[in-house]
Amino acid sequence: MPGRRCFGIKIIVLSVLAFTTLLFIYPFPDTKLLFKQASRLLEGPSASDLCACPAQCVAETQGHQWFSERFNRSVYPLLTKENYTLPKDAFNWWMRLQSSRSGANFSHVMKEVFSMFPGESLYRDAGPDRCRSCAVVGNSGNLKGSYYGRMIDSNDLVIRMNQGPTQGFEDDVGARTTHHLMYPESAKNLDPETSLVLIPFKILDLQWLLSAFTTGHIKQTYRRVLPTIQADRAKVQIYSPVFMRYAYENWLDKHGRYPSTGFFSLMFALHICDEVSVFGYGADKRGNWDHYWEHNAGAGQYRSVHGGDHEYNITRYLATTNKIKMYVGT
Ligand SMILES: *[C@@H]1O[C@H](CO)[C@@H](O)[C@H](O)[C@H]1NC(C)=O
Ligand SMILES: *[C@@H]1O[C@H](CO)[C@@H](O)[C@H](O)[C@H]1NC(C)=O
Ligand SMILES: *[C@@H]1O[C@H](CO)[C@@H](O)[C@H](O)[C@H]1NC(C)=O
Ligand SMILES: *[C@@H]1O[C@H](CO)[C@@H](O)[C@H](O)[C@H]1NC(C)=O
Repeated sequence: MPGRRCFGIKIIVLSVLAFTTLLFIYPFPDTKLLFKQASRLLEGPSASDLCACPAQCVAETQGHQWFSERFNRSVYPLLTKENYTLPKDAFNWWMRLQSSRSGANFSHVMKEVFSMFPGESLYRDAGPDRCRSCAVVGNSGNLKGSYYGRMIDSNDLVIRMNQGPTQGFEDDVGARTTHHLMYPESAKNLDPETSLVLIPFKILDLQWLLSAFTTGHIKQTYRRVLPTIQADRAKVQIYSPVFMRYAYENWLDKHGRYPSTGFFSLMFALHICDEVSVFGYGADKRGNWDHYWEHNAGAGQYRSVHGGDHEYNITRYLATTNKIKMYVGT
């Protein structure tokens, strides 16, 4: 009998030793990840392993009823060369967003677009081995003096929008940009590392894209636009009108005319990232809606066209339910 007890104790001591040694040679950032990795070792990857992030994955719907009623993983944010045909109802919705006298045929224009730009199916690699962190950087004046730059740049992807500059504002907004979302009237030149993600509101916007990389003949939409643009042609992506409608209907409950670029950018991140941090959204602490690089008296307009309060509400709610992290700045 004593021999047996001795053996039992030995096993326990050895297990504890092995466990602590393991912890030392392979330190885990937190116990939740340890648990996740351990169960993966024991059971192999399971379908519920949506990502490899230590805390939780954005796409996790279990225990998130409000989120799961809105989030639909199978709506893809980009148009691809393989599939750019829009269902009739989505096409009709999209065609009413901004009037344009272009008269061009959508599928003909798209065919041309994807003869010039790759149109690949990207970011579909979600799974137990991926933890993609993303920073979505809005243009709010609340970034001024925030010193968020290093935190923003430490993400795998850094998503910016419209006129948002980095040069001269690196301490507060960071220096890297992997994706820049824009439409013709908000376009700016980009670094070669950055993907231009066009949000098209009309067929003319897609024609402008073709023109901006070639002849430069389109200089005007409902206002003057950049005739040409500097950006890497191989990194151009086209935001999907079907996804635009999904953002408007599923997420905004049809508030406003259509979502803002800020909201489209957030939705983009929710669908291609496993962890999302949001910077530079909403007013500053004094209630001003300035941009971080200028005094902008017209920013109130954004709120009426886009149901800005409602967008901000939804964004806040995503943060309170720990779906995203929100940094409110100064
Ligand atoms: C999610 O989107 C897919 C593809 O667009 C659609 O077929 C499906 O019905 C949607 N699911 C829900 C629950 O709305
Ligand atoms: C193409 O995309 C549309 C809209 O996103 C979708 O309804 C349709 O099922 C897709 N078709 C194929 C073959 O994937
Ligand atoms: C665009 O052209 C195709 C044929 O190439 C045609 O089937 C389609 O109906 C046209 N679309 C519109 C909106 O006119
Ligand atoms: C924002 O959310 C609060 C609480 O959920 C709600 O009472 C309010 O009506 C919402 N505002 C808008 C504009 O949706």
